[in-house]
Amino acid sequence: MPLLSAAADRAAFLRAEIERHNHAYYVLDAPTVPDAEYDRLYRELEALEAAHPELRTADSPTQRVGGAPLPGLAAVRHAVPMLSIRTETDTTEQGVHNFDTRVRNALGLGPADPPVEYLGELKFDGLAISLRYEHGLLVRAATRGDGETGEDVTHNVRTIRQIPLRLAGMAPALIEIRGEIYMRRDDFDALNARQREAGEKVFVNPRNAAAGAVRQLDSRIAARRPLSFFAYGLGEHAGFVLPATQADLLERFADFGVPVCEHRSVSSGVDGLIAFHARIAALRNALPYDIDGVVYKVNRADLQRELGFVTREPRWAVAHKYPAQEEITRLLDIGVQVGRTGALTPVARLEPVFVGGVTVTNATLHNQDEIDRKDVRVGDWVIVRRAGDVIPEVVGPVLERREGELLRFDLLASYPTCPVCGSHVVRGEDEAVARCTGGLFCPAQRKQALLHFACRRAMDIEGLGDKLVDQLVDASIVKTPADLYKLGILALANLERMGEKSAQNLLAAIEKSRNTTLARFIFALGIRNVGEATAKELARHFGSLDALLTADVAALQQVPDIGPIVAESIADFFAEPHNVEVVEQLRAAGLRWEEGAPAAPVSGKASGKTFVLTGTLPTMSRDEAKALIEAHGGKVSGSVSKKTDYVVAGAEAGSKLIKAQDLGVDILDEDGLRRLLESGD
Ligand code: IVH
Repeated sequence: MPLLSAAADRAAFLRAEIERHNHAYYVLDAPTVPDAEYDRLYRELEALEAAHPELRTADSPTQRVGGAPLPGLAAVRHAVPMLSIRTETDTTEQGVHNFDTRVRNALGLGPADPPVEYLGELKFDGLAISLRYEHGLLVRAATRGDGETGEDVTHNVRTIRQIPLRLAGMAPALIEIRGEIYMRRDDFDALNARQREAGEKVFVNPRNAAAGAVRQLDSRIAARRPLSFFAYGLGEHAGFVLPATQADLLERFADFGVPVCEHRSVSSGVDGLIAFHARIAALRNALPYDIDGVVYKVNRADLQRELGFVTREPRWAVAHKYPAQEEITRLLDIGVQVGRTGALTPVARLEPVFVGGVTVTNATLHNQDEIDRKDVRVGDWVIVRRAGDVIPEVVGPVLERREGELLRFDLLASYPTCPVCGSHVVRGEDEAVARCTGGLFCPAQRKQALLHFACRRAMDIEGLGDKLVDQLVDASIVKTPADLYKLGILALANLERMGEKSAQNLLAAIEKSRNTTLARFIFALGIRNVGEATAKELARHFGSLDALLTADVAALQQVPDIGPIVAESIADFFAEPHNVEVVEQLRAAGLRWEEGAPAAPVSGKASGKTFVLTGTLPTMSRDEAKALIEAHGGKVSGSVSKKTDYVVAGAEAGSKLIKAQDLGVDILDEDGLRRLLESGD
């Protein structure tokens, strides 16, 4: 049948092409075709297989997608046991000497004999797997289990695009390639983000996520968990010419199209291994996946055979660990730390634990939502993670170890006031963080506040940068912006990297800033939600600082573009006596600006009332109507709600009018509006 043979040829071509692109994309990280072209090839193969089911082979890329769940995982006996590696507990250089000494002694080498050649590899933090290829075809994948018997997880491993379904090149009759299945950190983060969004459980670490995926009964679930693989060892084989060294073995795996980690290095004696250990330690945090150490292997296969095994561990290999990045300890209490912007970060007080190379007693809990999500409670055993220079964090509680009733932590209840300055703590409705309202008064926020105060668009004090602010605050020379105006040449010239000349320049810049505008001054105060534009509006509307200081929330909302949230922030700020004190000190320091008359309302008739405009009014433009309402103390909003007092409707009024009628809101026409505002003055 020439037709079918043409189809068979085409299918074979497509399978090879698609797997070639898979390898380039997933293993070499160097895509060879655009996604659209890949999709086209894939769909063509799918169509071909649908038309000719007999062409659907086991190594077809279409067979990677998950199928129906299995009733259970079948046991697999390993003809060649899957060994474990001895772990060198001494994490210093001495660990390398210990291993080399053992190897040399076992080989009967004396001090005069040449150094032994080793291969350094990474110790991947995933789970061990054995991939069985018969005549190049992946026929089975099994977990390590107890080393003798593992579980058949072929259905899940097939979904891993990095693992070839057919080996490239001249494959032996039989070969078991062993290695580690793991999950990259970025894939892990993305997976957890998806889980969180779907309201499903999040995984503690990449290893657990990978192990869970591989042991799924339902391969459709595994297919949605992004997994990766590195080969590092050999199991049962037939018709395979054994390479002379471990390094050559890995080269052969790579030639077969199987992923092999690039971080491997052949060296002689202890010095090379020590250098490898140090190089990988420095690289550890930059790697896109977790490792818990490095592995040293005697490179020559003949020497490996000579060394053999003790119990389940080869004498020719050792794992040299790095200090663990995760440990379990007790959560003693939860405190808070006040950041530069006033954000209160909950901090776990821990029973001291050695993790990531240092003793950790504090770890971040991020915010209240994270604490709730992880369900961390004081008294829990918790997993603490410290990766490199990253701030230690509490990953989550060890729920199996929770005893008795533990109370949930409520930040606002525990800290109604700032532990640093005593000001009120607030948390906005849609915000994750709670904040200290202390602003300029709170020492934790001082540095940030001072920098903002001095910035170009605020008081414009040239030369007052973060290094200098750090010094001034740390030495308690400056506590509030007002203190800047009391600085003298002596205090400044004594600071680090501050000569008399730069001290004089700074003083001149401070002096110059005394002449400013009310808008700049308001902006400089650093009130939350008050940017440059709002500060200008406030200055224009109130005209004087006193008028602003005495405005209540309702009065603040009269300012164009100021809604309830901003009005609240401003009122909160001036409700703190400390803030008012600093403002007064600044005034006393001789800051000058021009004050004008407030843009006072013509009348207060519309005061506190909200209007919505809709349709076209006969004689007034929308802006004119808005200005008229605001001039009488009213506010104009864009949408109708229960809070709307009046809807002003003109010609062709639409849905807003209907909504107003539904809600029973008073409806005015232009005349009605005029009468309301202008009557009886
Ligand atoms: S070789 C001959 N090489 O560590 C010994 N194992 O305790 C067979 N592992 O279960 C293992 N990275 O999952 C070897 N580069 C590496 C490894 C590695 C991680 C794991 C493996 C095994 C455990 C041994």
